[in-house]
Amino acid sequence: MYGILTPIHSFLRWAVLLLLLATIIKSLHGIITKRTFSNSDNKISLFMMISAHTQLLVGLILYFVSPFVQFGSKVPENRFFTMEHSSMMIVAIVFMTLARILSKKGKTDASKFKRLFTYSFIALLIIIMAIPWPFSHVARPWF
Ligand code: HEM
Repeated sequence: MYGILTPIHSFLRWAVLLLLLATIIKSLHGIITKRTFSNSDNKISLFMMISAHTQLLVGLILYFVSPFVQFGSKVPENRFFTMEHSSMMIVAIVFMTLARILSKKGKTDASKFKRLFTYSFIALLIIIMAIPWPFSHVARPWF
């Protein structure tokens, strides 16, 4: 289980990042050009949210099977995956969910785009900070 889930979780990061980036660029384009909120805007935010929730599910399972999740450990790598990574990613996924829900509730197209952009952008910043990049102190491979 652990041997399969880690590469899936690692690869899924790229799907989440790509869909999040596409959502951000599309909504920014909508804000600048003042166009109408289309079906494709709705679809991209839906796929972005699905990718995030799939990643959440895999991450939660990993949390129970990973040897790096150890409460009270002073090893920086264990601390990172037990506390920082998981809590920051959960917050980012909440922001991605809010991006879609609140944009759908927006009364005008402009407010839909604005909400989608703002919440997705905050989520992107958090995710970039919480990924164990190959150049970080908790280095993991690119894929
Ligand atoms: C957008 C959300 C997330 C992204 C982009 C993400 C990304 C990653 C990446 C790139 C790794 C390194 C994988 C590797 O070893 O190659 C990782 C590891 C891990 N993630 Fe996430 N993650 C996310 C959410 C979560 C959540 C919500 C949890 C748990 C609640 C979680 C728990 C873990 C654990 C425990 C590991 C360590 C796996 C191991 O090496 O034993 N992740 N994550």
